[in-house]
Parts: sequence; C-alpha cells; structure tokens
Amino acid sequence: MLDKIKALQDEIKKITVQSADEAEHLRIKYLSKKGKISELVNEFRTIPNEQKREVGQVLNKMKAEATDFINNLKAEFANTKTDEKSEDFTLPGSLMKLGSRHPLSIVRNEIVDIFARLGFNVAEGPEIEDDFHVFTALNFPEEHPARDMQDTFFIEKDPDVLLRTHTSSVQVRVMEKQRPPIRSIFPGRVFRNEAISARAHCIFHQVEGLYIDENVSFADLKQTLLYFAKEMFGEKTEIRLRPSYFPFTEPSAEMDISCTLCGGKGCNVCKYTGWVEILGCGMVDPHVLEYSNIDSEKYTGFAFGMGIERITMLKYQIKDIRLFFENDVRFVEQFKSAL
Ligand code: PHE
Repeated sequence: MLDKIKALQDEIKKITVQSADEAEHLRIKYLSKKGKISELVNEFRTIPNEQKREVGQVLNKMKAEATDFINNLKAEFANTKTDEKSEDFTLPGSLMKLGSRHPLSIVRNEIVDIFARLGFNVAEGPEIEDDFHVFTALNFPEEHPARDMQDTFFIEKDPDVLLRTHTSSVQVRVMEKQRPPIRSIFPGRVFRNEAISARAHCIFHQVEGLYIDENVSFADLKQTLLYFAKEMFGEKTEIRLRPSYFPFTEPSAEMDISCTLCGGKGCNVCKYTGWVEILGCGMVDPHVLEYSNIDSEKYTGFAFGMGIERITMLKYQIKDIRLFFENDVRFVEQFKSAL
C-alpha cells in the first residue's frame, strides 16, 4: 500500500499542463470520486487495522499535497484567462482629454507665421527694462508724459528699473547687437498702469516689427502691412493709414482695417465708421538709428507695433479683454488651431 501511495505521489509531481482544460482533466483523473486517489482511499479501508494509523497519515498527506498541486495548476490558468479577457484590444480606447492652445498664442503664432513668409525672424527682449531702452533711446523727450508714473510700473527709481510699456524696447536691444539689414518681429508681454476694464488691461501683448536696410521706404511699409492685413483678416480686407505721432518714428501713422464684422458698412464694432484701428507704425526716426550707432544717412527703416489682444478680439469677435486672463476652460476650449 505504501508503495502504491509513493508511486502515485511521484506520478503527480511530474505532471505539467498547457491549458485550463488539461488541468481540469487532471483534477477529474486524480481528485474526483472515481479518481486515482479515491481508489487508494477505498483500498485503505480494506487494510488491516494495525496498519491504518501509519498508512492513513501518509495517504492523507499525499492527498492534501496532490489537491493543492492540481488546484494551483488550475488557478494559474484561470488567472491567465481573466487577464486575456480584460485586454480586449477591440474595445475603443479610453479618451484622454486634450488641452487647447490659448487664443492669444494661436494669434501670436499666426502673426509670426505671416511675417516669416516675408522674411522676418523673431527676437525677444526682457520684460523688466530700464528707462534708456523703453524711452530715451526711442527719442522720448525727458519730460514726455509716457514716462509718467501713471503709465509705467516702476520697480526702482534712480537708477530706473521698470516694466516695459511697449515692445519697441526690443528694437533698441536688437539694433545694439545687430547691424543692418535687420528684418525682425518681437512678440512679447507689456505692462501699463491702467485701470482694468472690458477694453483695457494692465498686462497685454504686442508684436513689434522692424525692418532696416538701405532704401527702405514708406511704400515698403504700406505693402508689408497690407499683406499682413489680408493674410490675417481675409483677402477682401482694406487698409487705411492715418497720420499720427510717435517719438520714435517720422512720419508716423495709425493703420485701420475695413471692419471685419460689417465689411465697412458700419456697425457697433467699428462705431459706424467702417474702419477699426489695429496698429501704429512709421519710418524709424533718424535719431533712433543714431542712438544705436546705425548710420542714418545710409540706412532707413520702418517699424510697427500692434496689440495681440486687439487683433484676437477682432478676429474672433470677443467683446471683453478680461476673458483672456481668466482662463475659464469654457472660453479657451472654443479655440482650435493647427499652429
Ligand atoms: N510702441 C507703439 C505703441 O505701443 C506702437 C508702435 C510701434 C508705433 C512701432 C510705431 C512704431 O503704441
């Protein structure tokens, strides 16, 4: 009897299985009521009583081990099976929520892209500036009201450390380092000490443009800006230049485009004039060139500056500038772009 038990034990130990079905067959073969172990149990009943104690212990131990062994085999396959089930590759994937670009970034990228096609590259300058780069080198007279505490956020007085009020300061930074030809745009954030309302904010964004070379004329400026307006607002867009004043350009102008909403017929966006102002521009004042040691006899140039918020508001008919800074997802999600 003991030999038979040992033989069956060895037989079971050698078993390997490849599938859950095979494991189930083994269970039936060894553990079921008519299985091989049950046969031994039946035989055990017939042996003489004095052997029962010894044989019984061995048989019980073998039975327990065999049961564990076979059940483990089954369990292994059962697990693999459930794993396979949870990885159903035909199911649609779980959706990942994608963010979207901020409307100001979309329009900034579009502006950069349009001017890149005309050969303009991009340069940047610091937001924290000094009086020289924001005002003096741009030909602002000493007592000019734009330097006033009302407009400018000063960080320190004497020597002046301030937040730039326009991106024209980057013109100066670039002219200091680079000799003509210069054909660049400067996108960036600017700061003005203004009360926040639907139309104005104390932080906003501008794109400045600068082109300096021999024989650059006002006609070049006009054609460049016309191209920009049509690319940005559509082929039908017309432009109008009105004489204006900036200390750093002479002559200076402000540019209007035909109203994007009514196409020039008159509506409340253009205040019934058919035109909306979008930027300031002009020929770089010779003083400004000389401040940066560029020969104003040899070189001429034009500059322009526009507010990105303003362009974006016109393009998407947004009525309140504060929306750009609130970061309400219901607002920003509405803008989709490839750029
Ligand atoms: N810097 C001017 C502004 O902030 C815009 C401008 C730039 C005008 C360049 C002329 C030339 O209003």
